[in-house]
Amino acid sequence: MNTDPSDLTLEEQAALLSGRDFWSTKPLPDRGVPSIVMTDGPHGVRMQRAGTDHLGINHSEPATCFPPAVAIGSSWDPTAAARMGAQIAAEARTHGVHIVLGPGINIKRSPLCGRNFEYYSEDPYLSGVLGADYVSALQAAGVGASVKHFAANNQETDRMRVSAEVDERTLRELYLPAFERVVTEAAPATVMCSYNKVNGVYASENHWLLTDVLRHDWGFTGAVVSDWGAVSNRVAGVAAGMDLEMPGSGGRTDAEIVDAVRKGELSGELVEQSVGRVLALTELVADAEGELDADEGHTLARELAEGSAVLLRNEGGVLPLDRAASVAVIGPFAVEPRFQGGGSSHINPTRVDVPLEAMQEHAGRLGQQLAFAPGTGSGNADALRAEAVELARTTEVAVVFAGLAEADESEGFDREGIDLPADQVALIRAVAAVAPKTVVVLSHGGVVALDPWHDDVDAVLDGFLLGQAAGSALANLLYGVTNPSGHLAETIPQQLTDTPSFLNFPGEQGHVRYGEGVFVGYRYHSSLGVLPRYPFGYGLSYTTYSTDLLEARVVDETTVEASVTVTNSGPVAGKHVVQLYVATQAGPVRRPVRELRRFAKVDLAPGESTTVHFELDRRAFAYWDSVERDWVVAPGDYAVQVGTDADTIVAEQQLTLVGETRLAPLTLDSTIGEWLGHPVVGPVMREGMTAAIPEDQREQMAEQEDQLRMVESMPMQQFLAFVGNLFPPEALESLMALSRQSTTDQQPTNIHTATTDASDADATNTTTTA
Ligand code: BGC
Repeated sequence: MNTDPSDLTLEEQAALLSGRDFWSTKPLPDRGVPSIVMTDGPHGVRMQRAGTDHLGINHSEPATCFPPAVAIGSSWDPTAAARMGAQIAAEARTHGVHIVLGPGINIKRSPLCGRNFEYYSEDPYLSGVLGADYVSALQAAGVGASVKHFAANNQETDRMRVSAEVDERTLRELYLPAFERVVTEAAPATVMCSYNKVNGVYASENHWLLTDVLRHDWGFTGAVVSDWGAVSNRVAGVAAGMDLEMPGSGGRTDAEIVDAVRKGELSGELVEQSVGRVLALTELVADAEGELDADEGHTLARELAEGSAVLLRNEGGVLPLDRAASVAVIGPFAVEPRFQGGGSSHINPTRVDVPLEAMQEHAGRLGQQLAFAPGTGSGNADALRAEAVELARTTEVAVVFAGLAEADESEGFDREGIDLPADQVALIRAVAAVAPKTVVVLSHGGVVALDPWHDDVDAVLDGFLLGQAAGSALANLLYGVTNPSGHLAETIPQQLTDTPSFLNFPGEQGHVRYGEGVFVGYRYHSSLGVLPRYPFGYGLSYTTYSTDLLEARVVDETTVEASVTVTNSGPVAGKHVVQLYVATQAGPVRRPVRELRRFAKVDLAPGESTTVHFELDRRAFAYWDSVERDWVVAPGDYAVQVGTDADTIVAEQQLTLVGETRLAPLTLDSTIGEWLGHPVVGPVMREGMTAAIPEDQREQMAEQEDQLRMVESMPMQQFLAFVGNLFPPEALESLMALSRQSTTDQQPTNIHTATTDASDADATNTTTTA
């Protein structure tokens, strides 16, 4: 039954705008309005039947624990995000869940954020593509998504109060585009607003964010739901576009809404709009159906995990392991794997694969019995380390499982450093000093520094957090059943002080200033030449790939087409990530050296080549112009680049774009430089100035041209105070009118290039082999 909001009483309307309890909305049985059931999210279904909480403390029903977003980000594989979304929807439906609270697509601003394991990347394009495909697949299977946490929620410290102070260009270019992509491409049922303030205003009351940007700029038609307990002033929230408060307030805030409408302090029309959006969500309501297929979920969890781990180092081809090799398996994570993060996303897994057991299955096929030593632990750490070292001395390869414990990182608090615990560093170094070969397998949610032990070891396989099938996935990767194909979705710095937000994270006295602006992650490292330990986009394979050709050309006024041919030049099948960056310094703002604009993951048999085609729209070249308050493609030189990571460019094609010259009308507040530099007014003005000077003094004036530079930054108003009536008011008035005229005449020209045909493009193509 379709309920019209205006058929409901004001009390009924208000009742629909907050939860009944922790996870569901209030039904109105007499009006045919059912209750909507929500649950976390994002990498599994956390269905709580009793003892509800938002910190993952109480029991939840068993569900597949898929690799958290930190891993899916590293997969660079939109199909992985989509397959996970579809399977989570199937599991949600078995519990009668209508909306899953995810995905989390906040940008990893600092490696210290306690919740980075729940987010995809430091890059908004990668985050947006993965988030959109997750949402599309989840919703295609009949379950709504809640994209979170909107917006600028990039830390846990003081997360319920802190004001993120971010300029608009940085918001538009870094912190909003992933949300924009998900909203415009996947139409999520809901967007979850964050706890924090954005530039002084709570996200849950931020009209600019929830209405101007989300609905007007991006066309969002779903409902905004509050993060759990994010409401400060409910009435201001409704006015700002915050539709559904979760969880319930026991009726207190419903009464506040009713009261405000009755007193004329809140528009009844806005309340009805919010009610309409909440009612639209009831279309998702369906009875519980099907049964959890734990095997299917687990198999998928393993496949996704295998596609996500990143091989960082593999000196002398120590990996893949030979099944016949004698191997010492070391570290507590080999028997008690770390595979998910703490807090509201915590899943009660259907089963857990143990790395040691899974490795033994491989080695056992050739009769090898793997030896195990914990190597660290409370109490007698020295004795445990000595035992592990002895074992490592007598085997061909030592595989050390290291990382962060669940207590080291979680929702609710940030980390204080990025080093591995000291006992693990000591263990790795001691083992590496005696073992013929040492492999380190890492499990952690937030980035960890690899120094000072990195150079001591032969191989590093970074698993991040791989979900409940981490054990078997890691074993398959270590023994080469699967070829690693993950790439870093986040820069690994050499040390914490090398990170761009270091001085401004997590802020102080209630404010966190995003002082690094758009220079987050690789945008900072590559622009300043601050060498990371491993750059964004980096990842090794058991095979090799070559990039044989890049072509880029303008196809029409708004599109550049690029094609890249890649070949698997090595001995085994593998999946390669083609990364396309755009590099430019065009325009009036400082731009990162390069930015990721497209990517594709391709599956290649040994010797196989494929050509990947990309389409770059104008946004791929645009910056956010804070004067125009719009996206602008600046005229100038651009390079389309293929990188094997953000620092290693293997092919490049130059383009010159005509772009758009937006001419602001001149005013008395415009500087002399702006007046003289105006393409239409400037020449007229110069001519006038010259004519006003007696002919015999003109030569002298030319000499004074240099002095003019000194007043270039002076607004006309102030300049006139010095030079009196050099420009009569009527003359200035007509020049300003001329500038207004030229602004309206100016059509956005979009992008053009001098090299619009393929043959020209070929001529300037530089191709390098990876
Ligand atoms: C988290 C959300 C989560 C909600 C419900 C909040 O504390 O920030 O991500 O969906 O709790 O558990």
